[in-house]
Amino acid sequence: MDHFELRNGVLHAEDVPLPQIADAVGTPVYVYSRATLVRHARVFREALSDLKEAHVAFAVKANPNLAVLSVLRQEGYGADVVSGGELTRALAAGMAPADVVFSGVGKTHDELVQALEAGIGQFNIESEEEGYELAAIARRTGRRAACALRVNPDVDARTHEKISTGKRENKFGVPLDRAGAVYAALAGEDGLDMRGVAVHIGSQLGDLEPLESAFARLGALIGELRAQGHAVTHADLGGGLGVPYKAGETMPSPAAYGAMVARVTRDWGVKLTFEPGRVIAGNAGVLLTRVIRTKRSGNGPPFVVVDAAMNDLARPAMYGAWHDIEAVRPSGETMAAHVVGPICETGDTFAMDREIDALSAGDLAVFRTAGAYGATMASSYNSRGFVAEVLVDGDRFAVVADRIPADAIMDAERVPDWL
Ligand code: LLP
Repeated sequence: MDHFELRNGVLHAEDVPLPQIADAVGTPVYVYSRATLVRHARVFREALSDLKEAHVAFAVKANPNLAVLSVLRQEGYGADVVSGGELTRALAAGMAPADVVFSGVGKTHDELVQALEAGIGQFNIESEEEGYELAAIARRTGRRAACALRVNPDVDARTHEKISTGKRENKFGVPLDRAGAVYAALAGEDGLDMRGVAVHIGSQLGDLEPLESAFARLGALIGELRAQGHAVTHADLGGGLGVPYKAGETMPSPAAYGAMVARVTRDWGVKLTFEPGRVIAGNAGVLLTRVIRTKRSGNGPPFVVVDAAMNDLARPAMYGAWHDIEAVRPSGETMAAHVVGPICETGDTFAMDREIDALSAGDLAVFRTAGAYGATMASSYNSRGFVAEVLVDGDRFAVVADRIPADAIMDAERVPDWL
């Protein structure tokens, strides 16, 4: 459920007609709906209500905008971060350090120091080497780092190979068969408070079964660790729940996910953490774009050239991902078209031979389900600026990220005087 709807023939974000935003801010622009974010945050939390204790840490990578993080903080969410930059954002959005979890295989020395000094709630350690490095920093600074060991359960998440993380050959986590030994070694380090385990097998999962088998393996590991004498009090089940990208597509509901988790973890006796990203933010945002022109080439369908490109929304070019395309003022007519951006790459294609609302030069359109992994993956390729972002709340809206024009990016560059 989202709050992007046609009213009197015009697509609105909540009570704001999208043409009003295009006029005020220009295009392309990401538009987020606060009510949708809040709704998704509540539905997800509600789905976990059978669990005794659950901490929800929004995966900041999905949408790191400060206003979006602030909305989620108001809903009681913490943050799952994967860099010092994301940590800085979570804290700037007012999240309590204790509500922050730090994941990632490549936390640098400086990032470990930054997170320890900030007093974050938990480090998800992804290797023995990282554990020793963190332990040394903690000892030196007289601190103790609360840690979970991220394990790689070697399950096939049945999603796009580029967003699958839980197979043995992926770089993430410690293999299950080494987890007991690594956990024991790290538990012997003064600077670390090894308190649990973590798992995340991939993103845009359309099937609960791989998650269930990963969780079952994690449960067995918790039993083994306890048998070795470790007090395991926490488990982090990661994120990954998929969202519908195509009208009519169905995905496992948060309620079904919550029920599965409750069943699998019933006897674990731990505090659970979740790291949802896409399921919270995905359908809470659209990318609003304007048609530059249409052109014909050969006998095939026309190209609809829009002012958004792969630098603004990378998912179609990167993963062959589908985003529904809708006219902001649909006429009722449809057309078959290729929808492309202006970038000089064939991969800058949003749709091939797709039946879409009829569009012509000057018309506004949206790419749906762009609230997660949209603006955050933008680049300035082809010397295009960074796209702007807007948050809608009822009948008001605010620019929550300025467009960064190409010349401002150029201002950071220098030509050395020896050239
Ligand atoms: N936790 C960890 C450790 C993760 O690596 C991720 C996502 C999440 C949580 C959140 O997953 P979610 O609930 O959003 O599925 N750029 C790709 C997605 C990459 C996901 C990376 N990790 C895309 O556009 O599809």
